Amino acid sequence: MASPAQTITTLLEPAFAALSEGSDPMLRPSSRPGFDFQVNGSIALAKKLGRRPQEIATLVTSGVELKEVCDSVEVTPQGFVNLRMDDNFLASCVSEVAADPRLGVETAANPLTVVVDYSSPNVAKEMHAGILRTTVIGDCLCLLLEHVGHRVIRENHVGDWGTQFGMLIEYLLDLGEAEGAHELSVGDLDGFYRRARAAFDASPDMQERSRRRVVALQSGDPETLRLWGILVDESVVYFEDVYAKLGVKLTRADIVGESFYNPTLAQVVAELDEKGLLVESDGAKCVFVDGWTSREGEPLPLIVQKSDGGYGYATTDLATLRDRFGRLGADLAVYVVGAPQAQHFAMCFAVAAEAGWLPSLERAVHVAFGSVLGADRKMFKSRAGATFKLVDLLDEAVQRAGDAVSARSLELGEAERASVARMVGIGAVKYADLSTDRLRDYVFDLDRMVSFDGNTGPYLQYARVRCLSIFRRAGLDPADYLGGELTIQVGHPAERDLALALTGFGAATSAAVESWSPHKLCAYLYDLAGLYTTFFENCPVLKAPDEETKSSRLALCALSAAVLGQGLSLLGIESPERM
Ligand code: ARG
Repeated sequence: MASPAQTITTLLEPAFAALSEGSDPMLRPSSRPGFDFQVNGSIALAKKLGRRPQEIATLVTSGVELKEVCDSVEVTPQGFVNLRMDDNFLASCVSEVAADPRLGVETAANPLTVVVDYSSPNVAKEMHAGILRTTVIGDCLCLLLEHVGHRVIRENHVGDWGTQFGMLIEYLLDLGEAEGAHELSVGDLDGFYRRARAAFDASPDMQERSRRRVVALQSGDPETLRLWGILVDESVVYFEDVYAKLGVKLTRADIVGESFYNPTLAQVVAELDEKGLLVESDGAKCVFVDGWTSREGEPLPLIVQKSDGGYGYATTDLATLRDRFGRLGADLAVYVVGAPQAQHFAMCFAVAAEAGWLPSLERAVHVAFGSVLGADRKMFKSRAGATFKLVDLLDEAVQRAGDAVSARSLELGEAERASVARMVGIGAVKYADLSTDRLRDYVFDLDRMVSFDGNTGPYLQYARVRCLSIFRRAGLDPADYLGGELTIQVGHPAERDLALALTGFGAATSAAVESWSPHKLCAYLYDLAGLYTTFFENCPVLKAPDEETKSSRLALCALSAAVLGQGLSLLGIESPERM
């Protein structure tokens, strides 16, 4: 299904191509009242051909039959072309979206198998605010990919291996297994880690035991593995709690932790050796990557085996690439990890490509993101200086949302109020994260997040509830106004603007997937909610002048609710029916 913008672009393209192969009409939304689109491409084309922009603009528009789709075409002296769509054309486009169960979102012509690595918290470490970003962005990207028809494999690369486990296991033994397991499963992960660290620092005996324990762990001693398993399992119990609270789709089955790759690491290094990529440097086995140098200008190695024989984070990530493109048959591997790890991934991708594990560099993507900051614009910390616990933030968000909901709608029963509070509170936190360009940092500000005004989750949820309340008041079912029985008409400017926006859901969704940028979908939905408000304030629906207008406007309301609901659900945000 083509949107109006696509249809018009397709009409203009041959006229541009006739003057110069591959030139682009550059159709953009118009900012001029009375017009819908602006064609900017004549300027660049004129420059290229050494002619006047206005002349080119006249040439391309006169050669094209736009009558069916535009009722006003204006060439400006600067060479822009302003277009206003024909009402009937717009009406038929928006009616088509209303008739489409997918609301204009097309499915990929080429469905891919995409492995998405996200969340990936560390065992026996607190889930901090950064985990919120990877978890929420990763989950949204999976939902988007699946919705456009790709096959998604979720991989939660839990940090469950490393030398710190010697110390953690010894501390677990000192504490007593039952007591230690309890501390972890109730979520005192940071406390556990800190106390283990303190015990380690204070006691040479503990240090010696920890060292021996690491050796036992690495050599696969069954009792040590059992104790390690307790640490992992109890932490995972806690992670699952947080996932349930967040309402993300990660399960235990998606956990493919660092330890999973242990048996393959020697092979990874051996293959690098066979391919002649290994270089010994200070006893460590390294791969030097073209184009990577240290700050001092020295070639920068990726260390794959340390001089003591141990493997590191990079070796494991080479193994993830080898596994994902090999065993899992991935077409694309996506890593949703903070921006500070950009160099790590760039180097791993380059080495994996050289080794032939990664078919080409475009097939691996590091979806990086910025930090969550406190009100002081520093890394998000609690007043005591410790990292904030994600669960505490979520609980507080739900609580504030509950207060806000109670203050607004008194008629909700206790159970519904609690469920709405959860949807609004969690939705608010997720939306604040997703609506920020992922590469930017943002300040974690609960007051702003749960506000019903501005570009927030609750604002969008409420916009949808307002669309639906018209139907409730009139005893009608919005489903009766979708699915193609009805032709939507457009007349009033607010009606036109809303209709045009509703035809853009497909493009907004593709743009978000293609650039791994949920904020593009958020911006679209926010815009749509604003246009709905203007429509609602200017165009009477139940009191429309005639029956035809009334049902057409009801269809616009139903479609607005459907697009807002579907859009929020693709962001991983639930929508209450009332609030
Ligand atoms: N656990 C890691 C950390 O906390 C993130 C892992 C990301 N995924 C990966 N394949 N490296 O930094």
